[in-house]
Amino acid sequence: MIEVLERERTFHLSTEHTSMILHVMESGHVVSLYWGGKVYGKEFSYIVDELKKASYLAWTDGNRNFRLEQYPVLYPVFGNPDLRSPALHLRYEDGSRITNLRYSSYRVLSGKQKIPGLPTVMDRSEDGKESDEATLELVFADRSRGIRLKLLFSVFGKHDAITQSAVLINDSKGSVWVEKVMSACFSFLADEFDCITLTGAWAREFRRTRQSLRQGKFLVDSRRGASGHGQNPFLALTDPGCTEDTGNVYGMNLVYSGSFEASVEVDMQHNTRMMMGIQSFDFSWELHSGEEFYTPEAVLVHSDRGLNGMSQIFHRLYRERLMPPNWAERPRPIAVNNWEATYFDFDRKKLLDLADEAAGIGAELFVLDDGWFGHRNSDGSSLGDWKVNEEKLGGSLKNLGQEMKERGLGFGIWMEPEMVSPDSDLFRAHPDWIIAAPLEEPQVARNQYVLDLSRKCVREFVIEAVAEILEGGVIDYVKWDMNRNITDAFSGELFPGNQKELMHRYMLGLYGILEELTERFPEILFEGCAGGGGRYDPGMLYYMPQIWVSDDTDAIERLRIQDGASLIYPSVSMSCHVSAVPNHQIGRITPLKTRGIVAMQGVLGYEQDLTKCTEEGKKELAEQIGYYKTVRHIMQEGTFYRLRAGENDYAWMHISRDGSEILAGYVQVMAKPNTVPERLQLKGLEEKAWYALEGTDIVRTGSQWIHCGLELDQSMEDYHAVQWGLRRVEMP
Ligand code: GLA
Repeated sequence: MIEVLERERTFHLSTEHTSMILHVMESGHVVSLYWGGKVYGKEFSYIVDELKKASYLAWTDGNRNFRLEQYPVLYPVFGNPDLRSPALHLRYEDGSRITNLRYSSYRVLSGKQKIPGLPTVMDRSEDGKESDEATLELVFADRSRGIRLKLLFSVFGKHDAITQSAVLINDSKGSVWVEKVMSACFSFLADEFDCITLTGAWAREFRRTRQSLRQGKFLVDSRRGASGHGQNPFLALTDPGCTEDTGNVYGMNLVYSGSFEASVEVDMQHNTRMMMGIQSFDFSWELHSGEEFYTPEAVLVHSDRGLNGMSQIFHRLYRERLMPPNWAERPRPIAVNNWEATYFDFDRKKLLDLADEAAGIGAELFVLDDGWFGHRNSDGSSLGDWKVNEEKLGGSLKNLGQEMKERGLGFGIWMEPEMVSPDSDLFRAHPDWIIAAPLEEPQVARNQYVLDLSRKCVREFVIEAVAEILEGGVIDYVKWDMNRNITDAFSGELFPGNQKELMHRYMLGLYGILEELTERFPEILFEGCAGGGGRYDPGMLYYMPQIWVSDDTDAIERLRIQDGASLIYPSVSMSCHVSAVPNHQIGRITPLKTRGIVAMQGVLGYEQDLTKCTEEGKKELAEQIGYYKTVRHIMQEGTFYRLRAGENDYAWMHISRDGSEILAGYVQVMAKPNTVPERLQLKGLEEKAWYALEGTDIVRTGSQWIHCGLELDQSMEDYHAVQWGLRRVEMP
């Protein structure tokens, strides 16, 4: 809901449990007075009126008693006179970098509008029903410069989330250069925060990092042309004592898949400013006269129920308002992928043998990974040559797909359409289509170059090449991979003065391609991948409802990775496969049961040579799959709780949408000698309702499971895992 208090010059944005209060000061600057748990009232400007005047800061508008720099400016602009980190930094033809934006008007729009060319959280309220989603548009102007800025805040009432984005409009006669334009910014009149980010690297993505803030600036960013393995476009500020279940959390997540930055600055006056948007290092955008520039949007979530509360808000919003609606609710197929089973070394017989085993254990989808096109038998060639290698496959892709269908399996393929190998017909024909700088030999990574998707002809080629493979109805799934970052950032198509636009133009190009392909093939399930979780972000989730979380398939490594990802992304978006032991990335040997339980936290799949399994092994796999089919709706639609995330043990649970079924998992990393018996406390159950523990005759109340917990069988075994099912029952 958006309440406009005209007399108080105040906007009150409220969701079911939160409020954000914005206020227009006499000077025309807009400040953020409050964001947090729901508040009621009309007058909130005393919060800034009570500010004690700080010394040495520049006066504002000649008023010695008004020093803008100490105010929680909603969307700060560089240099006049606030000197902290700006959200907006423009450069003009006369060399000035000073912009003086003042509030001019507002509009309240019903629902949520799509941002042209960019993925966004959508208004998907059911037909005919009144939407509780509304948008506040605040317009600012710098009349002497002919610049307007629109800030858009969309409120998702029952989802408890707010999105923010910005639009810049150049009404002047000349060009303006946008050096920095953030999607969202929020300033707090406080500095007692911890800051949580998700950092890592290839095969160890999504490490939770938490630090207490001090005066100075903290930044996570990517200059890679992708959100990257090293950091997620996410940042949360929390109360210092915030836990999984208590305390205030303020989370921001950017709906964008390219280079980004997320920063927090604690300033001289003990105030904190957080912001997020497109990476400003090596960014500059020429906004010609009459043009508009749209930023991606950021999702802002406040929870006063700790980190689990924040995660649940993100999960539900992304499932119901971001992911492709036709996929969000559909049971995700259990895949068998041939990558770790065969790598590039396969032929028709090997694939069909694997498919027979896959069908035998009850899998639902066979995914043919890398190596089916051109003459690609290693990562050294053929990207860009999307012609089926019929000799290797022993027939057409269609024919192979039909073989899968005959076995009752869907059929999926791997593609990496954004790339080209130096050894490819495509590169030989169009060496100028890659991203490469003049006078420099372009760098290869994994033997490949990046196609310049800022160019229309390249985008058209990619769309047609992919569409040609997907047409014919035999493909049910595509794993869309991206295995290197952008170096040598330069486009032959852009003028020298516009080269810093390339990274963002690449993303706009990619989104355009994905928009068209997902529209043309709505029945195909697209799974995102970038060497694992190198581009796992809300921008990708808008097109691809599941993402390969990490190339690291070791169950113990995955505990940490999935725990971190679960901070923001719903379980149904996490593609998790059971692989062989010793694990291919790290050599660890873990029990099959543990691998199964860990993978069942998300979308279960398999990635191992099933033809080498013993009969006993296959029986266990079939049992895992059989069980998963009975519980996947709990994972897919339910509410997720992290129960434990220590170094040595992890536990989590899902509660089905109707609250009647519970699935909980626990993994102990290393066995400990002489332990005291421990209990695992569950969360989120109805205190007075009764729940039966499946496989036993134990029936207890929700309050008992929550407060007294269930007995943990910490057997004397490393990598030991347990899974429990509970069901709500009538009072016994
Ligand atoms: C990437 C992916 C893997 C696999 C290979 C194929 O590394 O993350 O899962 O698909 O590419 O080359």
